[in-house]
Amino acid sequence: MPVELHELPPELRKSLDEIGNLGVSEEQFHLTRKRILDEAATSETLAALDAVRVAALGKTGVVSIWLKLIGGLPPENRAPASYRFNRLREEVQVAIADRKAALDRAELDAKLARETLDMTLPAEAAPLGSIHPVSQVMDELAEIFADLGFAVATGPEIETQWYNFTALNMPETHPARAMHDTFYLNAHDGEEARVLRTHTSPVQIRAMQAAGGSKPIRIIAPGRTYRSDSDATHTPMFHQVEGLVIDKGITLGHLKWTLETFLKAFFERDDIVLRLRPSYFPFTEPSAEVDVGFSVVNGKRVIGGSDGWMEVLGSGMVHRSVIAAGGYDPDEWQGFAFGCGIDRLAMLKYGMDDLRAFFDGDARWLKHYGFSALDVPTLSGGVGA
Ligand code: PHE
Repeated sequence: MPVELHELPPELRKSLDEIGNLGVSEEQFHLTRKRILDEAATSETLAALDAVRVAALGKTGVVSIWLKLIGGLPPENRAPASYRFNRLREEVQVAIADRKAALDRAELDAKLARETLDMTLPAEAAPLGSIHPVSQVMDELAEIFADLGFAVATGPEIETQWYNFTALNMPETHPARAMHDTFYLNAHDGEEARVLRTHTSPVQIRAMQAAGGSKPIRIIAPGRTYRSDSDATHTPMFHQVEGLVIDKGITLGHLKWTLETFLKAFFERDDIVLRLRPSYFPFTEPSAEVDVGFSVVNGKRVIGGSDGWMEVLGSGMVHRSVIAAGGYDPDEWQGFAFGCGIDRLAMLKYGMDDLRAFFDGDARWLKHYGFSALDVPTLSGGVGA
C-alpha cells in the first residue's frame, strides 16, 4: 500500500499550492486524479481504456507532462513533487491493469457462455466423435510396419527400474538415468520403487524374453511414455514407438533401409532424405540420431527435400549387453532398434504446432484434427487417407 501524504516526513509533505512553480493547484490535481481513475474504472472496452492510458501516461499525457516538469523545480521542491506524481502514475497503472483484467474476464465469460454445450440434449444422429491424431498415427505405423513383417508388441506403463534402465545397459550409477526426468512411484514392502516408463525401450527386453532367446524378432511397440517436462513441445505424458529387430547377420544397412522405407510410407513422399548422425544411447552401439530433410514452402516447413534437417528419431545397433539381458547370445544374434516420438510425427505430418492441445480434449480441436472412424489407414489407399 502506498503511504498517505500525512504519513510522510515533513520535507515531503508540501502541498502543490506551496510548490507553486508547476502551475497545478492542489484542487486541480485532485480533480484530474479523480477524473482519470473514474474513467479507467468505467471504461467499457479495451479501446476506451487504452485511450485513458494514453491521455494520462502517454508521451504527452497529463501525468507524463507533470513528471517531466519536476526536473525544472528548485531542488527542495523536487522530492515532494516527485512523490505526488510518481504515486499518481502508480495509481493510474494499477487502475488500468485492474480494469483490463476485469474486461478480459468479462470477455472470456461471454465467450464461454456463447460456447456452452448442453450435455442433456439427445445425441445427434451423425456421430460427433473422431479418431484422435495420435491413434490415427499409431494405426498408420502398425499398417506400414505390418507390411514389413513387424508385429505390434506392448509392455506396462508402470515399469521396474530393471526393465526401464538396468537391462538397457543403464546401471544405477549411470548418468543417463538422470537425463530422463523420471517419475518414481512410492516403493512399498522393501521393493525397489517402480517408475512410469520414460521410453518404450523396456519393451525391447520384454519382447526378447517372450521370444525365449532363440527366435528372430521384428516388432514395433507404440505406447504412452512419461517424463517430468512441460512446454509447447513437451508434455509429461507423450507417445513413442519403439522398433526392434533381432536376427542373425543384422547390420546398420538394414536399419537405414527400414527407416527410409517407413518414413517414405508415413509421409507419403518419395523425396524423403535421411541423415544419420552419430550419437549416444546406452542401449545401442553404434547409435545414430536420424534427421529428415525438409523444404520451406510458403514459409512453412514441409517434410521432403533438403533445405534443412529435423531430428525425428533415435536408433542404433542393439548393444551386446542388452541382447544378453533379453536372454539372447550376443555372439550369435544382432539387432537394431529405434525410438520415435509419435506426437511429433503427427505434428509434422498434420501441421499442429502446440503439443499441449493434443491432450486438452477440446471438442473443436478434435473436430478439426480428428479422423473419420471409417478411414482406416491402408498402404494401398494411402495411410493418411
Ligand atoms: N529410447 C530412446 C529415447 O527415448 C530412443 C531410442 C530407442 C534410441 C531405441 C535408440 C534405440 O530417447
